[in-house]
Amino acid sequence: MTKTFHIRTYGCQMNERDSEALACMLRECGYRQVMAEEEADILLFNTCSVREQAERKVFGKVGILKKLKRRRPDIIIGVIGCMAQNYGRKILDELPHVDLVVGTDRMHLLPEILQDVCTGQRGQVHTEPGTEVLGKLRGHEPGRVSAFISVMRGCNQFCTYCIVPYVRGREKSRPLPDIVREVEEVVAQGAREIFLLGQNVTAYGLAELRDQGEYRPDVSPFADLLLAVNEVEGVERIRFTSPHPRFMNQAFIESITTLPKVCESLHVPLQSGSDRILKAMRRGYTSEDFMACIQAIRERQPEFTFTTDVIVGFPGETPEDFEATRRVMDAAGFEMAYIFKYSPRSGTKAAEMADDVPRALKEERNQILLQDLERRSAAGNDVYIGRTVEVLAEGPSKRNVERWAGRTRTNKVCIFPPAKSIQVGDLVQVHIERATPNSLFGEVL
Ligand code: 5AD
Ligand code: SF4
Repeated sequence: MTKTFHIRTYGCQMNERDSEALACMLRECGYRQVMAEEEADILLFNTCSVREQAERKVFGKVGILKKLKRRRPDIIIGVIGCMAQNYGRKILDELPHVDLVVGTDRMHLLPEILQDVCTGQRGQVHTEPGTEVLGKLRGHEPGRVSAFISVMRGCNQFCTYCIVPYVRGREKSRPLPDIVREVEEVVAQGAREIFLLGQNVTAYGLAELRDQGEYRPDVSPFADLLLAVNEVEGVERIRFTSPHPRFMNQAFIESITTLPKVCESLHVPLQSGSDRILKAMRRGYTSEDFMACIQAIRERQPEFTFTTDVIVGFPGETPEDFEATRRVMDAAGFEMAYIFKYSPRSGTKAAEMADDVPRALKEERNQILLQDLERRSAAGNDVYIGRTVEVLAEGPSKRNVERWAGRTRTNKVCIFPPAKSIQVGDLVQVHIERATPNSLFGEVL
């Protein structure tokens, strides 16, 4: 009988991407994917280690499956991804009912590993580091308008708060022709928007150049990649995440502001607006450097919208440091941000510093930033009222299936009435009539 599987994903878009590829690989091997956890013979948890809270959630979630396992001993439970890479065998010590632990660098081997588990070899742990996964974990959801493509993995930055370089290892980029070939494949399957993914996409190809002794600070292999993807016929839009401000040089800025398919929206992590904190985080830029990048982009392309990641409550963050963050966020005009309350990760430099901002104060700062964002996004969305914008139709809206949703090039969600003449993947012109802090509403012209 065909075995069914269910994948639950935690964390970043890279994990979403890995889960999608994994699901495609497993379906090709004859397993059937189910959306309901209760119907699955195989339960996989693709995990995240960036914050302690995310890890605790998984330990809790997988922990309570012990009962299910007692009732249905045949069920297969797997912990995969960052926590698997981070803890390896320790996961089995804590959760002995888990059948397999597969780290980020071994994910492409999951079909083979599952086969062994199905024939009784339970309790497998695979966490050997390696780079083959980059080209081998492949597969896309057919018919999807947006395709996520992994261009590099790992991180060499060692920001003092971050566990990623320890868990995911050093930066490694895929060769440009491989990426372009994958872009052509997904376009043939119906994708119109290409989302390039990496822990630090602006460092794409740099480690390889360094190894060959050909690194220069003014080159940007990522800009070359954008140019190559821009040339692929059938691609309508290009987006990417996340760039590191340190590598946003002239070549990169020229490329994103001039290539016609690169969308006018940029997610660029600020982390803090205080130069003292940025230094303690070892981010490699000042608030002035950061703003200079934003201004350079804005001067060339005033339409650009910006979003960011910010950490509140980093060790030693004073009220003045926090106000500096608010000021820079305001100057950059961020309308959306992922705000993280600092949590120490063992093994990192910052974990040796005192986590001295009380939890309540972290929460208070979080709330203040959220209010700032809401104010700015309401004002930012109001600007669209009365304008006509290009929207990529994605299909029925999640909240109300009677309406359709899509995004503008500036990454604003736009809701419009469906029409027979509009298909998923079409670019439509929408006249905006009303706006909320979260969405634009309009009529199709
Ligand atoms: N505590 C809080 N937030 C963190 N991030 C990374 N490490 C930590 C930590 N120890 C945030 C950063 C990063 C995002 C993915 O997670 O803002 O950009
Ligand atoms: Fe972590 Fe910094 Fe690398 Fe981003 S750039 S993954 S925050 S170490």
